Amino acid sequence: MRAPIITVDGPSGVGKGTIAMMIATKLGFRYLDSGSLYRSLALKIYKKNKNFEAALDNLDEYLKDIHIDFQYTPGGKAKIFVNNEDFTQKIRTEEVAVLASKIAKKKSARDMLGDYQRNYISTPGLVADGRDMGTKVFFDANIKFFLTASVEKRAERRLNQLKDQGISANLPNLIQELLLRDKADTERLISPLIPAKDAIIIDTSDISAEEAFDITINIIKENLKNL
Ligand code: DC
Repeated sequence: MRAPIITVDGPSGVGKGTIAMMIATKLGFRYLDSGSLYRSLALKIYKKNKNFEAALDNLDEYLKDIHIDFQYTPGGKAKIFVNNEDFTQKIRTEEVAVLASKIAKKKSARDMLGDYQRNYISTPGLVADGRDMGTKVFFDANIKFFLTASVEKRAERRLNQLKDQGISANLPNLIQELLLRDKADTERLISPLIPAKDAIIIDTSDISAEEAFDITINIIKENLKNL
């Protein structure tokens, strides 16, 4: 029997990374931040060719030479290496997020990363966050959450996260960037950002991460009685 899988999907800044990691820590499960894979791939290709759009037209050429490796520490956030270079911090900017959203439209990139993500399943279980975890990559997940929140709240949270990492940004720009990225992620043809039919939807606009975590963990406990 495969290990239990919990998916947490939603748009940027909705708190899914924080909540998914809290769930993983509580249950002792492995945590997969699928967005970090798209970010890493995009940044690696951008470093090779600043004409990113042209590189996307020849994506297969680039993909075959790229090796992504998570170094996982139980209870912690994995470090991410691309061809042995540590990308863990470098991928956290909004510029890289925009590149990631562009590469995310490409089938060959999604196929490569989809295989990678499925190989990440591990006992005693996996919590995976992203855009298509519940609809596509782990369509047979045991429990699926889809988080939503107003764009203003998401931008505020993103601003605070970036500040904590010493990255400067301003709120009106972040709101515009999030709206553009939501549009690109929702309207793309392959694996668009939509809730799975069997997803539990939670609006995190007016609740704290701890409150959202409590809601999810109660649902998980009810559904996975043997945990
Ligand atoms: O979650 P994030 O902000 O790190 O994701 C960055 C971009 O990567 C996001 O705008 C779309 C893409 N992405 C995706 O298409 N599918 C995923 N499962 C995760 C991220």
